[in-house]
Amino acid sequence: MSFKDLFQDDYLFTNNAHARVNLIGEHTDYTGGYVMPSLLNFKTTIQISKNNMEEYQVYSENFDEHKNFTDFLKSKNNDWIDYVKGCLFVFYEENKHIPNTYLNIFISSTIPMGRGISSSSALCVAILKTLNDYFKTDYPEKHIAILAQKVERNYIGVSGGIMDQMVSSIGIHRKAFFLDCLSLKFELIDLPNDWVFCLVDSAVQRNLRDSAYNERYNQLKKAEEYLKADYLGSIKPDQFDENKINDELILKRARHVITENARVLEAKQSIINEDIKLFGKLMNESHKSYAKDFEASTKDVDKIIERSILSGAEGARLTGGGFGGFTVSLIHKNKYEDWKKNINKFYDSKNIFEV
Ligand code: GLA
Repeated sequence: MSFKDLFQDDYLFTNNAHARVNLIGEHTDYTGGYVMPSLLNFKTTIQISKNNMEEYQVYSENFDEHKNFTDFLKSKNNDWIDYVKGCLFVFYEENKHIPNTYLNIFISSTIPMGRGISSSSALCVAILKTLNDYFKTDYPEKHIAILAQKVERNYIGVSGGIMDQMVSSIGIHRKAFFLDCLSLKFELIDLPNDWVFCLVDSAVQRNLRDSAYNERYNQLKKAEEYLKADYLGSIKPDQFDENKINDELILKRARHVITENARVLEAKQSIINEDIKLFGKLMNESHKSYAKDFEASTKDVDKIIERSILSGAEGARLTGGGFGGFTVSLIHKNKYEDWKKNINKFYDSKNIFEV
């Protein structure tokens, strides 16, 4: 079904935003640390026009659902339409001079949902970019990312950081997006031509993901209180006094973040030096820390990581918020065909995606 079939009209503006894979730096963004994601080819596209119906009309191709609304009240049971309402709410809040304008909105997407590659941030960024075009608000990409984060934090109610929105808004495919999440300064770094990153889908449902994510968020804020630090991101591993935290669980969570930040910095340097062995080693250490200290992995995910490395990957780790979803592996171009043959013995090609 096309926009025209549905709304009997042509769309006026269209824009899109891509999903991301986080190469390294997990749960470091909301503690003022570093992350290094990259864009994927999967994307969400928005088409809009004005309508004369006195209500917003929205169609999601993936859900094959048509929804109409006149106010921006959030629904009681998590619904995809809340992301659309949330974007409109935040956008109008910022632009009180713009009158409420009823729109037709068509959403299509190639992003697999709920797999840790930020389908929700891509949706928000794509909607806000299209509203920005339609209402000619001329926002820079960084501001679009900040507004998209507001939608998820203040409207939807997930305590996320800023990584996904920033890379979805500004990132470039085949470039690592190194981000200092405190200053929001970023660098786009070319990935070496002979490095292949590949996703393997664990197909693990992430039902408990939001509550577990919020729990981790609160544990890290607690660690900052123990350490009397504004942000864990400001603490280097050699400054970390583990004795200051007399709660074993909080200590483990903090240790993951503090060591992870150091790994991101080293990983950035290893891309610049085209040192694939070092980058792979850092991915493996990152996964170990994510699984042991942060307890955000699952048995199925750990199995993929183990098999991927045995199949010839330089490194592999769970990517994204945790508790299932996609894993990412780094393979040297010369070993790629062998890796694929080996990993295919365990996982079907339809669950494997080259970045
Ligand atoms: C989710 C959040 C991000 C980040 C990651 C974990 O994707 O949206 O802000 O915290 O989890 O690294």
